[in-house]
Amino acid sequence: MKNQSNSAGNGTQPSIGDLVPKWINLNFVVQDISFFVLGLIVALIVGWAIFPALLYSKQPQPMNFNHALHLNSEIVDGIEGDTPEEKCQSCHWFRDDGSFSGIPKLDMCTGCHDDPESPLGETPEEKAFLVNYVEPEKQVPWFVYSKQPDCVYFSHIAHVKMGEFACATCHGDFATNEKLPLYVENRLTGYSQNIWGKNISGFYLNKTYADRMKMDDCARCHTEKGQEQNNACFVCHK
Ligand code: HEC
Ligand code: HEC
Ligand code: HEC
Ligand code: HEC
Ligand code: HEC
Repeated sequence: MKNQSNSAGNGTQPSIGDLVPKWINLNFVVQDISFFVLGLIVALIVGWAIFPALLYSKQPQPMNFNHALHLNSEIVDGIEGDTPEEKCQSCHWFRDDGSFSGIPKLDMCTGCHDDPESPLGETPEEKAFLVNYVEPEKQVPWFVYSKQPDCVYFSHIAHVKMGEFACATCHGDFATNEKLPLYVENRLTGYSQNIWGKNISGFYLNKTYADRMKMDDCARCHTEKGQEQNNACFVCHK
């Protein structure tokens, strides 16, 4: 059968080429589309995987600290409090003036880990702690996941005592933490990923990051709790 539009005019079945006007060179169109698709895929990989991987540096904490073990009264005796929530404050306490002590200093640990020669357990982690920090009386240089820029004012007492929020509301679950997550820092801003947002793709790859520490998160909770008056710049920035 003769096909009217068959440009080759050789009487074979119509091909895709017959459906586009002659002035469009089909080879180039196919090439252009595949270059476009290839370019798009490369851009997506760079934007979603490679750029974030380069943007964030990941460092382990100087040593592991096992929260779950120290909160388990069958293993560690002497941390005051009946519930894990109450126990938190025997290491992370409020001073008499209402300020928050933050991460405990070495002298809190040496109340129990007092003799570098006689470990309390048998793990290599504890031996390393005794050799590297207790013996030379050196503070552990912990990274603070939730560290805010210097210009931000945040007080724990307003949130823990007045607001009555559990620690996990903002920090995620630390009570059952056996192994500390890596500290992830944005190379451009120097801020921790916990306060500097999600991965650039808009997702949390690591669920340990609580979505409660960024400017918008702070303001969102204030609005939800009827605390709009605390959403003026000068309240959080001093
Ligand atoms: C025996 C002392 C001790 C007890 C008890 C304790 N912690 Fe800690 N906590 C530490 C030490 C040491 C660190 C620093 C290492 C780290 O980041 O885990 C820390 C760090 C943290 C951090 C990380 C803060 C940041 O942004 O880097 C959070 C959150 C935390 N503790 C919450 C809790 C909660 C919640 C409880 C109670 C369920 C608790 N802690 C009980 C010793 C303790
Ligand atoms: C109330 C007593 C007490 C305090 C305070 C205390 N520890 Fe411990 N810790 C223990 C005991 C008991 C063990 C041993 C548990 C076992 O292995 O049986 C231990 C174990 C450890 C280990 C080994 C854990 C593991 O996962 O292998 C490390 C590291 C450690 N402690 C660090 C610290 C640091 C850092 C502090 C201060 C923030 C601290 N401890 C405060 C009692 C305490
Ligand atoms: C409303 C949110 C919120 C709640 C609730 C909260 N925190 Fe925090 N926490 C923060 C923020 C924000 C920072 C960082 C503060 C800064 O860098 O100025 C922080 C910092 C910390 C630090 C590190 C302080 C340092 O620099 O040494 C520890 C430890 C900590 N919090 C433990 C706790 C514990 C334990 C509780 C419960 C008793 C708790 N937090 C409740 C938001 C919260
Ligand atoms: C889970 C809810 C919640 C989150 C998250 C939260 N806040 Fe608040 N904040 C409150 C509530 C509720 C109050 C009022 C407490 C009161 O006075 O009873 C408050 C009060 C304050 C105040 C005024 C009291 C004071 O200390 O002077 C400041 C400042 C503040 N928040 C800063 C912050 C910052 C900065 C962040 C984020 C890093 C933050 N808040 C995250 C609930 C939240
Ligand atoms: C509810 C608390 C809160 C209020 C209100 C608030 N901020 Fe912030 N702001 C933060 C926190 C927390 C950060 C650090 C984390 C981040 O960048 O998301 C921040 C970061 C910033 C930064 C970046 C600082 C740096 O060192 O990179 C700027 C600029 C800033 N805020 C400006 C403002 C201005 C302007 C307003 C008023 C329109 C305002 N903020 C209101 C909590 C607040």
